[in-house]
Amino acid sequence: MTDYIKISNERLCGCYQGYLSCIEARDWMKNQIGVWEFTYEPRDVRDKSIHPAVFPISMAKRVIEQFTHRGELVLDPFVGSGTTLLAAQDLERNAIGFDLKKEYVDLSNERISVPPEGHPCKQLAICDDARSISKKIAPKTVKLAFTSPPYANILNRKRKNKSRRGDLRLNEQFGKIEQYSQDPRDLGTLSVDDFEKAISEIFYAMKPVFMQKAHILINITDAWIDGKREPLHINIVNAMRNAGYEFRNTIIWDRRNIVNRIGIFGWPSNYITMGTTFEYILDFILPAPDEKAR
Ligand SMILES: C[S@@+](CC[C@H](N)C(=O)[O-])C[C@H]1O[C@@H](n2cnc3c(N)ncnc32)[C@H](O)[C@@H]1O
Repeated sequence: MTDYIKISNERLCGCYQGYLSCIEARDWMKNQIGVWEFTYEPRDVRDKSIHPAVFPISMAKRVIEQFTHRGELVLDPFVGSGTTLLAAQDLERNAIGFDLKKEYVDLSNERISVPPEGHPCKQLAICDDARSISKKIAPKTVKLAFTSPPYANILNRKRKNKSRRGDLRLNEQFGKIEQYSQDPRDLGTLSVDDFEKAISEIFYAMKPVFMQKAHILINITDAWIDGKREPLHINIVNAMRNAGYEFRNTIIWDRRNIVNRIGIFGWPSNYITMGTTFEYILDFILPAPDEKAR
């Protein structure tokens, strides 16, 4: 018999069964606008030597509120510093995160170690490959997966800080490789083609854990790798469709409020948009086998 992680996914709210989440109409309307902006708060991990690529707690909260009820189970297959878990704890959702690197799992578990008194839900990080998820989580229990996988191998090279101006280019990150690990299972070591294949395989194997009409949201950006534009959001859409998911929505994470003192690219002959000014949040669902998704 499989020993699944013991964690509840029971709703704690009185919402109607068919409602997607506990969200109020006013917030639903705000979320219909496909461009979202966030600010970081003091609890966010901003030190890149602790973790090089975190998303804001406010982003995870907005996604969790849009797609889950209180008490439901949230999964982050690439949990990093535990941002999704912290957001889930704030919002009284159960949550499980996976990461290959023990240091990040310890950090995640430490960040969620003091839940508010009387907190009704559990959050935990597990040190394991995302490929093992369906062996660890009971079938049909997860309502939402929200994650940001490694962006293929864009961090696995010496930083050139090309978007920085003047002396800022030569900051403490310059010339360093900020990749999570060199473990061959780490998606951050893979070329774009292998990355697409790995995402597809991982999410295909994960399918059993999702409840009917669960949403899966993936944060990703496009990149320049070895002088070539790599539209990673297209790789993600292809990977997920090949794994049997239906692509539903694109949300743009407008990052202009957190990008400052940028350098000039390409002027006056080579037009290039700055990748740091926006990222994608791609929304997928798993259609029920006997029902075409609406
Ligand atoms: C972009 S980071 C996630 C950051 C996270 N959203 C946060 O806010 O801290 C991607 C994470 O995926 C992890 N990772 C890479 N390959 C993995 C795999 N095969 N299974 C589980 N985790 C993996 C890396 O260690 C890294 O922490």
